Amino acid sequence: MTWPEGPVRGAPGPSDAPVRAGAELSEVPAGADRELRRRYTTANLGVFTHGEASRFVPRGDGDPQKDIVLAWELLYRLEPELYDRLARAERLHPEVVGWLPREVDQIAEVGAGTGRLTMELIGRGQRVVAVEPALPLRRILRRKLAAAGHGDRVRVIHGFFDQLPLPGDFAGLVVACSAFTPSPGHGGEAGLAEMERVCRPGGHVVIIWPNHLDWLATRGYRYVSFPGPMCVEFGSHHEAVELARIFYPKAAGEVWRRGSRKVPFEVLGINPPRDLAYKVLPE
Ligand SMILES: C[S@@+](CC[C@H](N)C(=O)[O-])C[C@H]1O[C@@H](n2cnc3c(N)ncnc32)[C@H](O)[C@@H]1O
Repeated sequence: MTWPEGPVRGAPGPSDAPVRAGAELSEVPAGADRELRRRYTTANLGVFTHGEASRFVPRGDGDPQKDIVLAWELLYRLEPELYDRLARAERLHPEVVGWLPREVDQIAEVGAGTGRLTMELIGRGQRVVAVEPALPLRRILRRKLAAAGHGDRVRVIHGFFDQLPLPGDFAGLVVACSAFTPSPGHGGEAGLAEMERVCRPGGHVVIIWPNHLDWLATRGYRYVSFPGPMCVEFGSHHEAVELARIFYPKAAGEVWRRGSRKVPFEVLGINPPRDLAYKVLPE
């Protein structure tokens, strides 16, 4: 998925340049998120812990039927397996993972979710700490790590961008995938400052599948994008149709007609996870 309140970007082609002004190209089509918004109501907001509510509904008056970001947060807590099925299908461009620094001693990932990126980080660092606020997602991630025999290589802990439970200069790579936004509840100034605090001098802070490129550019982040066709790879055509009806309702008919479990990202109307923004901290 991409952050639905944010821009959908086209594929800018290969580049390694300062994050560009004006890189946000178009808006999410109207109504693209309506099915997800319909799933939850204000009655579901009680699922949030105090720390979650203070970030996601700071004034206490949120409505997931109007606020798609809130609906995503409820999805993680109320239907985490459904979210995991989507994340499994939306695989990262292999060169995004390939670009990340190798042989790092400590890696910290923030907003790890059910581990789309975490599982890829295991081979790149001696140790990985995965920070994730939503308990149901942490449970799924721990289960996956145990099943893959990596339970001892990744520490899965609770935390938020703006209050990382990690010491300063802790990691050579601090990374977030499809999780950081400039809004205070999902990162913001405080969250970026925390990621940079936890990163040691000479280390990398990396935002994968970024939105709000201008915002990151003005904070010294450079941009890289990798070319090539990309598909969302559902488990079956049946699953493609089922998940498209929920997450990409405008494309559901076309997904059904194509008869394939693989659906190009452009058919679904979202930008593929082919890019990242990064900063190398001064030594
Ligand atoms: C779209 S999911 C991405 C999960 C995972 N990184 C991936 O790529 O599959 C967004 C994640 O950000 C987490 N998140 C939301 N707000 C957060 C915050 N303030 N601090 C840390 N993580 C947060 C959510 O719980 C969720 O796991």
